[in-house]
Amino acid sequence: MKGKWTVLVSVLLVLSMLLGACAPKPTPTPTPTPKPAVQPTEAPPTATAVPPTPKPVEPIKIAILGPLTGDVATFGASNRDGAIMAFEEWNAKGGVLGRPIEWVLGDSQCDPKAAADVAKKVIDEDQVKYIVGAVCSSESIPISEYANQKKVVQISGTSTNVMVTVDKDGKVKPYTFRACFIDPFQGSVMAKFALENLKAKTAAVVLDVGNDYIKGLAEEFRKAFEAGGGKVVVWESFVKEDTDFSAILAKVKAANPDVFYIPTYYDKLNLIAAQAKQKGITAVLLGGDGWDSPDTDLAACDGGYYTNHYSPDDPRPIVQDFVKRYQEKFGKVPDALAALAYDAANILLASIEKAGVDDPTAVAKAMETIKFEAVSGTITFDQFHNPVKNAAILHVKDGKVLFEASVSP
Ligand code: PHE
Repeated sequence: MKGKWTVLVSVLLVLSMLLGACAPKPTPTPTPTPKPAVQPTEAPPTATAVPPTPKPVEPIKIAILGPLTGDVATFGASNRDGAIMAFEEWNAKGGVLGRPIEWVLGDSQCDPKAAADVAKKVIDEDQVKYIVGAVCSSESIPISEYANQKKVVQISGTSTNVMVTVDKDGKVKPYTFRACFIDPFQGSVMAKFALENLKAKTAAVVLDVGNDYIKGLAEEFRKAFEAGGGKVVVWESFVKEDTDFSAILAKVKAANPDVFYIPTYYDKLNLIAAQAKQKGITAVLLGGDGWDSPDTDLAACDGGYYTNHYSPDDPRPIVQDFVKRYQEKFGKVPDALAALAYDAANILLASIEKAGVDDPTAVAKAMETIKFEAVSGTITFDQFHNPVKNAAILHVKDGKVLFEASVSP
């Protein structure tokens, strides 16, 4: 048997030398792989021997959830791109725990039902143990409920509503974290800015009662504005389907407030701001992080201010390095959603590395005590899994978004 094999290999070698001399390169003929009858050390000295295939390293699978379709699809796109950039950077350095990172995308559509469905799908079918996302608080809340039931670690970059990380009894959800500040802080930062910097005495507020984030932020703003001596003269709600705001805006016009707080996402903001302009409303428009989109109508919001998580103009080297790499990769300036998804993904991977095991319970424990230098600031978590960090106030002026101030808690 050994003799036959040697002859065969020699013939093959000669053949391949001949063929190689008169290129083109031959397509490799399938190598006969007879069972070695002898010890590997005595195996024929052959260039065609098949090296033993190393056991494949099982990847660590992570879901990225966010609104990839629907009214606020730019949020989902930025969230996805920020997270993927972090994963690719870790993979280039050898992955996490020496294993490659693999991701699955899920579309939670900024809708509670779609979010609950996609959480089930990635946890039960794709078997992920870790989730980055979602974006809208009304997605992240139902996702957190299933994730905690299934002991899956979730970290949202940008869901700011209090109920994302705590349950109805006010207890922290052990497996859910976020990389952003929360709405009581965001609402009070803007209320203070209106009172102290803009010298506002009266405010109008509109809200979508069906959206956890919008409703919550409106309430936080009102609380802080009134506590600081201001008066909310118009408080009007609408529903998701509304596109004509003339009835509400007639009330705003009649009340003539100093500021008009619109804590919606950019889709509704564009409609409300444009219609307010048409009506001749001159109040300074104010808002929250939901204004952050490449699709925001900056002309309609001109003169307005909003709170946000970061500014690409922040001179800190970690921000400027991130902005540069993101721009090279995606050809655009990263918005806050991209920056925070990048931070969230990095915090997750650093926590897996810190835990030293692919075990969500150990990873959640490790995350609780991590200190992480992120693009959006230094992150440590409080007892409710919320980072303590500054908010940026941005000013919309002549088609540009300018950095106005950074406010600490
Ligand atoms: N904070 C918003 C929410 O909780 C989501 C969001 C964050 C949107 C940042 C835009 C920018 O629903």
